[in-house]
Amino acid sequence: MKIGIYPGSFDPITNGHKDVIKRACLIFDRLIIAVALDNNKSPLFSIEQRLAMVEQEIAEYGKDGAIIEAKAFSGLLVKFARDNGADIIVRGLRAISDFEYEFQMSHMNYKLAPDIQTIFLPASDSTQFISSRFVKEIARLGGDISNFVSPNIATQLKSCF
Ligand code: PNS
Repeated sequence: MKIGIYPGSFDPITNGHKDVIKRACLIFDRLIIAVALDNNKSPLFSIEQRLAMVEQEIAEYGKDGAIIEAKAFSGLLVKFARDNGADIIVRGLRAISDFEYEFQMSHMNYKLAPDIQTIFLPASDSTQFISSRFVKEIARLGGDISNFVSPNIATQLKSCF
């Protein structure tokens, strides 16, 4: 069974994340969405809220294909991947600005665990510029976020501000 892991902060999950999840489901038999507790980013939503939002958003996925589940994790990603039998880390790649950070992270993870590979899925046209950070900022300033997150997530975001 090919098990992939898609890690992130998911603060909150956006349409960009969902696009990567949908496509990763076509590659793996089982996909674990790993929601990070420790990320040095002072998230807006608690780990419980972020995990619940991911679970709500993926409920409709994977019915015909991959088994898909969301789990919270703390500590090193590669350890969590190994503990869950996953040997491939999936990351979405948006604009060029993502590249250096992602490249560095993939190499650090490879040094830590050469048995675990990172693969990148390029963001699709419609989600290329979506970032959780900007979605939060737009929501905080009262802007329209309906193109970037689901109505469910938009409601939860609006209730924060
Ligand atoms: O969505 P993000 O914030 O870009 O995701 C970053 C994340 C959570 C994948 C990364 O910070 C991570 O893997 N954190 C777990 C701790 C870890 O393994 N750090 C070493 C990475 S080289």
